[in-house]
Formats: sequence, C-alpha cells, structure tokens
Amino acid sequence: MTVPASAFLDHQGYETVDIDAEAAALTTMGMTVLRWGVHAVTGKRIALLSDGVASKIELMEVDAVTGVLDHCAFAVAELGEAHAGAVSNGCAEDRAPFRLEAAKARTSFVRTPAGRLIQLVQYDDDSPDRAPWDQPTWSE
Ligand SMILES: [Fe+2]
Repeated sequence: MTVPASAFLDHQGYETVDIDAEAAALTTMGMTVLRWGVHAVTGKRIALLSDGVASKIELMEVDAVTGVLDHCAFAVAELGEAHAGAVSNGCAEDRAPFRLEAAKARTSFVRTPAGRLIQLVQYDDDSPDRAPWDQPTWSE
C-alpha cells in the first residue's frame, strides 16, 4: 500500500488510573499488547495495543485522569519535515523531536490551535510499535 499523504493516523493515547485492568479489558475484545513501556515524561507505564487489523491504542498510566483522550499520533515519513510543517501551519511546539529508543522511533509533540495534543512519529523499519498489518510505504 502506498500512502500519498505525508502522514496517517497511527494511534490514540488514553489516560487510565488502572492500566492493568484497562489492558486486560481491551485484550478480551481481541486486542493484543504490542509492547509495555515507560512514558518518557511521567516515568509511569504505557501499553501499546493493536487489534491486528487497522487500529492501535496507547494506554497511559496516570494518578488521575485529566481527559479521556490524551493525544492522537500520526505516523510520518520524515519527522523533522513533518514537525516543522505543523509548526509553520499554526501548531505550537509542545516537545521538539527526540529519540524514543524503546519504540525504535523518533517522535515529537505539537498542539493544534485548539490545544489538542498531536504526536508525530517516524518509526524505524524494525520498530516493535509498527502496526502488525501491512504498513504503507511513502510515495516519493
Ligand atoms: Fe503515543
């Protein structure tokens, strides 16, 4: 599959105070855990789950839920270009591009003019967080 756009929706991140129960509930719905990890900012656990078909959810462990949806993540072909493009088109930089070694990816965060948090992520080819279904390749 070739994606002509410069990005596609990769996953959504949800806060939860009981990540074990939430992950267990999602696995009963057919999702599988791709990876458990540690959140780069909070130091608390995260879990990335996949339905194996077309969707991924990131659970983020928190002490208190502040919002149902924490962020939407878009996979991009080239992070620096995508980040700069988002900022030049009205998004505010929330976190500059950085290496997320556990995910074998580079990522950054921006906020839309309405304040929504958007993650941009450029996966390495061998990233454990890449979706298990056929990944699109970027058209040149
Ligand atoms: Fe995320």
